[in-house]
Amino acid sequence: MKILVLGADGYLGWPTMMHFAKKGHQVLGVDDYSRRQIAMQTSSEALMPNPNLEERVKIFNEISGHNIACRVGDLKDFRLFESVFSTFSPDAVIHYAEQPSAPYSLKGYEEAHYTLKNNLEVTHNLIWAVMKFAPKCHIVKLGTMGEYGTPNIDIEEGWLDIEHKGRKHKFLYPRQAGSLYHTTKVLDTDLIWFYVRTFNLRVTDLMQGPVYGLSTPETDLDQRLLPNFHYDDIFGTLVNRFLVQAVAKVPLTVYGKGGQIRGYLNLNDTLQCVDLAASNPAEEGELRIFNQLTETFSVNELAEKVKKVGDQMGLGVDIKPIENPRKEAEDHYYNPAHTGLLDLGLEPHYLTDDVLASMLEQVLNYKEAIDASKIMPRVKWNN
Ligand SMILES: NC(=O)c1ccc[n+]([C@@H]2O[C@H](COP(=O)([O-])OP(=O)(O)OC[C@H]3O[C@@H](n4cnc5c(N)ncnc54)[C@H](O)[C@@H]3O)[C@@H](O)[C@H]2O)c1
Repeated sequence: MKILVLGADGYLGWPTMMHFAKKGHQVLGVDDYSRRQIAMQTSSEALMPNPNLEERVKIFNEISGHNIACRVGDLKDFRLFESVFSTFSPDAVIHYAEQPSAPYSLKGYEEAHYTLKNNLEVTHNLIWAVMKFAPKCHIVKLGTMGEYGTPNIDIEEGWLDIEHKGRKHKFLYPRQAGSLYHTTKVLDTDLIWFYVRTFNLRVTDLMQGPVYGLSTPETDLDQRLLPNFHYDDIFGTLVNRFLVQAVAKVPLTVYGKGGQIRGYLNLNDTLQCVDLAASNPAEEGELRIFNQLTETFSVNELAEKVKKVGDQMGLGVDIKPIENPRKEAEDHYYNPAHTGLLDLGLEPHYLTDDVLASMLEQVLNYKEAIDASKIMPRVKWNN
């Protein structure tokens, strides 16, 4: 297949590029380096130094003998899409190119406006590029489990059958996100659904939980191919943050009561999921939604897991609840369905003690680079 990866310089985009190349596909990635710029502006740089996309593509091609390609540019500009689609007509597009930080999206007006504009415009441009240049192309869009929020009923995979006054209809599952960033993902889904039902696009929307890890068969080829591993309050996902806090001997920062439950997955499983989605495309006129997670944990459970393994490694890990900077339920029901990707063949990598220990070992190699001032929450929306 010809695979186009949008957001190719990102935490997920870069390992995805290498994964599809290794599977024998023709791969082109696009990125505007906005995450790198935001990280610099907010003092949220990644733990390891990461060569930029063009440099990494060169390094990977030299080491592996593959021939992946990249373009640097802003996908808010439709002319970039026109240029990309006129030279590389993709069979599938993996769309990661959004501003993904909830705290950043609530930092101030400029950041909120940028997040709204960036995320919706890139999605809208992609839809139009596919309609104009490659109408059979399958869009694999990264959504988030955060679209659903934490409802007091089971979370289905994207759709819900409703019976009202004796009549039935199937609707998108009701969504109520907890940040502006997550709300842009809800709006993306609504936008996509309009175009799918009106213009017969084929789309898979992957409602992904927080991802952890920094090792895949391809990132292990060379230190310079590692993904961008963030541990700060802006870009760091929870498990990655706790791992670095354990190594830095900073007590694990549990927000509020710590009863917040989410669905997590290993970076390797993200690669499997997008691959399974791309290899088994949605039908024309279908918006297919999968919940992309492998297991659920509360914040307290994760903190205890990291503490247990860290203590076994002699790190002496403490846990310290702090005031929750977010407005969110801290003690709630959570039961998301997630069978769709398993039915397609997903073989989960679970968060075992061995997995945690190997991630801690990797972080220990970069212990000197940890900047503890990036750890405590700097953005608040708890009223
Ligand atoms: N990482 C997770 O745990 C997680 C969980 C759920 C959903 N997601 C979703 O997966 C996607 C990828 O997440 P990530 O963690 O890799 O984020 P990331 O910020 O590391 O990667 C996104 C990439 O997109 C690029 N980008 C953003 N706007 C762009 C534009 N206008 N033009 C070109 N490039 C642009 C950024 O520079 C960045 O490199 C996001 O859509 C995110 O919402 C991620």
